[in-house]
Amino acid sequence: MYRTNTCGELNSNHIGQKVTLCGWIQRIRNLGGMTFIDLRDRYGITQLAFNMETNTELCEKARNLGREYVVQIKGKVAERFNKNKNIPTGDIEIIVDNIHILNASQIPPFTIEDNTDGGDDLRMKYRYLDLRRNTVQQNIIFRHQLAIEIRNYLNNIDFLEIETPFLIRSTPEGARDFVVPSRMNPGQFYALPQSPQQFKQLLMVASMDRYFQIVRCFRDEDLRADRQPEFTQIDCEMSFVTQEDVMNTFENLFKHLFIKLKNITFDTFERISYEQAMRLYGSDKPDMRFDMTFKELNQLLQHKDFKVFNQAESIIGICAQGCGTYTRKQLNELTDFVKRPQIGANGLVYILCLPDGSYKSSVDKFYTQKDLQAVATHCQAKANDLILILAGDKEKTQKALGELRLEMGNRLKLRDKNHFKPVWVVDFPMFEWDEETQRYYAKHHPFTSPKAEDMELLASKPEQVRANAYDLVINGVEIGGGSIRIHQHHIQKQIFSVLGFSDEEAQQQFGFLMNAFEYGAPPHGGIAFGFDRMCAVFNGVESIRDFIAFPKNNAGRDVMTNAPFEISNEQLNELFIDLKLPGDK
Ligand code: AMO
Repeated sequence: MYRTNTCGELNSNHIGQKVTLCGWIQRIRNLGGMTFIDLRDRYGITQLAFNMETNTELCEKARNLGREYVVQIKGKVAERFNKNKNIPTGDIEIIVDNIHILNASQIPPFTIEDNTDGGDDLRMKYRYLDLRRNTVQQNIIFRHQLAIEIRNYLNNIDFLEIETPFLIRSTPEGARDFVVPSRMNPGQFYALPQSPQQFKQLLMVASMDRYFQIVRCFRDEDLRADRQPEFTQIDCEMSFVTQEDVMNTFENLFKHLFIKLKNITFDTFERISYEQAMRLYGSDKPDMRFDMTFKELNQLLQHKDFKVFNQAESIIGICAQGCGTYTRKQLNELTDFVKRPQIGANGLVYILCLPDGSYKSSVDKFYTQKDLQAVATHCQAKANDLILILAGDKEKTQKALGELRLEMGNRLKLRDKNHFKPVWVVDFPMFEWDEETQRYYAKHHPFTSPKAEDMELLASKPEQVRANAYDLVINGVEIGGGSIRIHQHHIQKQIFSVLGFSDEEAQQQFGFLMNAFEYGAPPHGGIAFGFDRMCAVFNGVESIRDFIAFPKNNAGRDVMTNAPFEISNEQLNELFIDLKLPGDK
């Protein structure tokens, strides 16, 4: 037997027992006649004690071990003289009488402790060492617990876990596909699924009624803190349901998860429409932990002498409470923030509400104190508050002010990571227009059903058609999105036509699904949650990488295995691939 106990379970109840432990050496401390070693495994840390006087040879051996050596020790559990209240094993130590080295270790490239000295790249290169660190390990354990809770919950309400293929056909809608060449079908490619969307709909046609899958998805898109090229979805689909049924089912799942994993209870989740979300927060994933909603100022600020405002489609402001004392430097920082290319505003107008009831603004020469007071009243600003105003094209201005609102939320510490504010965003537009390609795209996906009451606008004003689509947003993060699907062939045909597909093209790309709908497709709908994002949001962490055992970096590379990598000419030949790289003649 390698061990009698783990390094996380011994306490004062075990005093006097003979035990055998296995683990990694985290730290060796030589204190005069005593040597102490912290022995670590997945379950915790146990202190080992060696006495130079009573067992010189063993103590010498202990002193010569290195960090991350793997050892087996035998000894007796004893009460500790200096107790450590911070760890569960802190009341005891092991008086060791035997050490067996199971494996030596090179000196690790960074310290394997909660606060490591290793930079991001180094930790990713040696991810197996990084994963030994307690903080990282806890994240992976949390991920496991969350998956188990979800699986059990859905199993208990009749959902079947069904696997769908990874090698599928590439579809033109959505993000870019990762593709896989087929050796047996020269010149042809599979795509890796961006989501199992069409398969889960086919499972509904197949009468599976309730499906879920904890499934890897692949998207070749620009990466950010909350985006990985491969990520995991909790993918779900249900038959004979309305939007209400789907939202209630998964709201209950989330309430259950919050109680189980965070001990937090919730009443009904708030709901807002897409239009409201954009108008009040400048985002379709609003962070509702704080208010600071947008105020429209066109009426109050146009038709004076300020050209920028007069020419703007939209003038909107927010009130940052208690920031009326901001210095020029702080205001310049905010101006620089909104002018960054990612935000894209041309400038920022501010109004400081001074303690004496007067106003100081960056547009004082165009507006009287009375004008500014009217704005302050409209924005519900009091003395010592700061009003920040952006103007321009409506959508761009909303988005830019949305970013500024989040920045002010950060500055004012209004985005408490222990506070959770879920919200359903509903009534999304069905389509969005793309200037570059001069065509409509489905905002969610082309299988989403339009709202019955907007059907008549489909041909004449597609941009006004709303969809039976919904997103679950928590603390400003889009956690999941879904919709009621089209289950009737003729409506699906109409949608493809708005998207610019001819009947032949639609048949060629999506024929298998459209044909299936001719064999008794039940009304159905579903949702998919970003599982990595759920892990991060539940823990108040921004980066989903912390919850993925082997993540990719921002360039989509696995720095540990050095993927992606070239393949040999033989492999290329076998696949009939003749590469022409940029720069090749
Ligand atoms: P959608 O594209 O909204 O919907 O994706 C669902 C959820 O998946 C997460 N997500 C990601 N997480 C990490 N990295 C990424 N690159 C990434 N992309 C998406 C988000 C998102 O809300 N088939 C539909 C669902 C449906 O209609 O049922 C779909 O995939 O949290």
